[in-house]
Amino acid sequence: MMRLDKFLSVASPLTRSEAGKRIRSGRVTVNGQPARKPETRVDEAHDLVAVDGAAVRYRKYVYLMLNKPQGYLSAVEDARDPVVTDLVPEELRHFHVFPVGRLDKDTEGLLLLTNDGQFDHALMSPVRKIVKLYEAVLDRPALPEDADAFRRGMTFSDFTAAPASLEIDPGDPCRVVIGISEGKFHQVKRMCRQVGKNVIRLKRTAIGCLKLDDSLAPGELRELTDEEMKILLPGWSGGR
Ligand code: URA
Repeated sequence: MMRLDKFLSVASPLTRSEAGKRIRSGRVTVNGQPARKPETRVDEAHDLVAVDGAAVRYRKYVYLMLNKPQGYLSAVEDARDPVVTDLVPEELRHFHVFPVGRLDKDTEGLLLLTNDGQFDHALMSPVRKIVKLYEAVLDRPALPEDADAFRRGMTFSDFTAAPASLEIDPGDPCRVVIGISEGKFHQVKRMCRQVGKNVIRLKRTAIGCLKLDDSLAPGELRELTDEEMKILLPGWSGGR
């Protein structure tokens, strides 16, 4: 149970004082009845709260799937470049989401955003070894021995990349699908570079069993479904 003004300040874009004014003016209903007192107690799991007739669903955390376009930084603010949180619509802004991990500015595709630090931690934890899939376009055709090199893992001056996968498109060997279970800085590009290829275009298409919803145009986002949350982190008990 919680106060109605608190409920609205967490679950809607209203601040606590705006919520108080809305409530006192009779524009907020609880289970269909106008509630004119900000201190009204509501059960966030069961009561139906509406502002001007529009239902407000209580949640503290949101989990968003973004089809990141090229040209955006995986950050919450930057003095020069656009950032992925610029793409969050007004009605979700008050959740103050941040990106889970990062994609390079010129990388596209699946990026998750949340305001839940534990979710971020669970997904990024190296212990889970969640495989991320990337579609890459290379500047020259990939060879079967490149796939072997990926499978063996690679050593760089500053880190060792664990074994990864590289699948070559038989119709166009400049197109590959790469699977890595880590997320080191520029990892895919550096692994490709080590086998003598430059990545011309890079798109993340999956994180673990969660696939990018291909109905999302670049720049579009939507909330993850409960089903997708379960697919992503089976057995994870935090969240929503
Ligand atoms: N590897 C890269 O090189 N860049 C990305 O954005 C993600 C993985």
